[in-house]
Amino acid sequence: MKTRSPRLVIVSARAPFVRTPNGIVRAPGGLISALLPLMRRSRGTWIAAGADRDACEASELPFRVRALSLPSETRAAWYAGASNGALWPLSHGFVEVCRFRAEQARAYFEVCRAAAEVAAEHAPPGAVVWIHDYQLALVPALLRARRPDLTIGFFWHIPWPVAENLRVLPWASELVEGLLGADLVGLHVPRYVRAFRDTLDELGVAHVNEEEGIVVPRGARHARIEAWPIGIDVEGWASLGRDETVAAEAAHITSELGGGRVLLSVDRMDYAKGIVERLEAFERLLEQSSEVRERVTLVQIGVPSRETVAAYRDLRQRIEATVGRIQGRFGGPRRKPVHLFARTLDAHELAAYYLAADAAIVTPKRDGMNLVAFEYIATRPRPNGRLLLSMTAGAADVLPEAHLVNPYDEEGLGSAIGHVALAPETASDSTRMAALKARVSRLSVETWASGFLARLEQVTQEHAPAQAQ
Ligand code: F6P
Repeated sequence: MKTRSPRLVIVSARAPFVRTPNGIVRAPGGLISALLPLMRRSRGTWIAAGADRDACEASELPFRVRALSLPSETRAAWYAGASNGALWPLSHGFVEVCRFRAEQARAYFEVCRAAAEVAAEHAPPGAVVWIHDYQLALVPALLRARRPDLTIGFFWHIPWPVAENLRVLPWASELVEGLLGADLVGLHVPRYVRAFRDTLDELGVAHVNEEEGIVVPRGARHARIEAWPIGIDVEGWASLGRDETVAAEAAHITSELGGGRVLLSVDRMDYAKGIVERLEAFERLLEQSSEVRERVTLVQIGVPSRETVAAYRDLRQRIEATVGRIQGRFGGPRRKPVHLFARTLDAHELAAYYLAADAAIVTPKRDGMNLVAFEYIATRPRPNGRLLLSMTAGAADVLPEAHLVNPYDEEGLGSAIGHVALAPETASDSTRMAALKARVSRLSVETWASGFLARLEQVTQEHAPAQAQ
């Protein structure tokens, strides 16, 4: 079905444009690149709850962007507090990291209310409103109450928490009821849809199980929960992989690193990504193997993230201390076993590292789709290289040909890193990589966005009477 483009409203925490010293530029990330063409065509409105008003309301933008007017304490309690101090760790299984504070929950409710109000004000009659991510989970129901004429979609971009963990959130029912205000709630993989069904059981919310998902009757309408695996801008990364300047930069990186084997990890510096555990596993390999000491380099790109949250500041210090210790123990004037870049790299620089790396090491303790795994696969022009991927990442469900590893198994993690670093590449490796390339090509972010929007319109047009189980 074709998306009726003139009526789209997007609601997200971040804005599609950011102010830089060189002016206002497109924000990084695949989601933004997928949604921008749709927004340009629809001349719709993008509501950026946590964004800088200046960058949002500049006159040269191709469509309307609206920020919320929020006191800075409210913004901090919503973003660093309820979103990243409670919902993020809860969804990733780090219950002991969660802090549930009433004033942060109040700020979360306030921001969701404000976002719903701005969306209600800007959405034309009968518009499609697509709300994104865990920072804004209450918006669907709040918006539905104000504007029953709208078609409302929601996408939850991180793992759905297991039901037992979600129970400890003091406002778990409100969170789930908030989401059920949407006509279609997207999660990444069927595993998360099953976890959502467990949550409904736990909260006593009646629902119908269907082959592709769950249907929750809500008066005269339904809320559907389905798996919609997101992808990347496949052609964008593939064309960087074919670019001669990127290839030259990759050759330069390989030679600067001494010409041995290169392992690459790219993560926001987040405790869910398992960065310290990976560094420690590599340190043990350095202890055990002279071949690793002589021939293998780990490049860790660590993008600074959420540094207003204490757990993230502590983690950055631990990462830097661990890298320092490894250098002290195994580094020398001509040899540095680990390189840490604590900064954001642009797509060109990243692509060069993807080409230079003999293996991508993607070993989060828990993660959703982890698009770095996809980017590594898409950027490489030929089916070579290896992907080591945590079985606890949602991405493992859609990339089964990767070398899968349990990131909690210390010996297993070490030997898997050793294998992808040192074992000679065989025909089976190139068969795996060819299969992964085919999978990533099928999961493009454009297909994801247009497929979700088409399905959203389809489900709202279905008038079958709701049947509770
Ligand atoms: O993947 C979840 C997510 O919150 C995205 O929405 C966001 O782009 C990314 O993590 C980075 O987080 P933040 O916006 O807090 O820097």
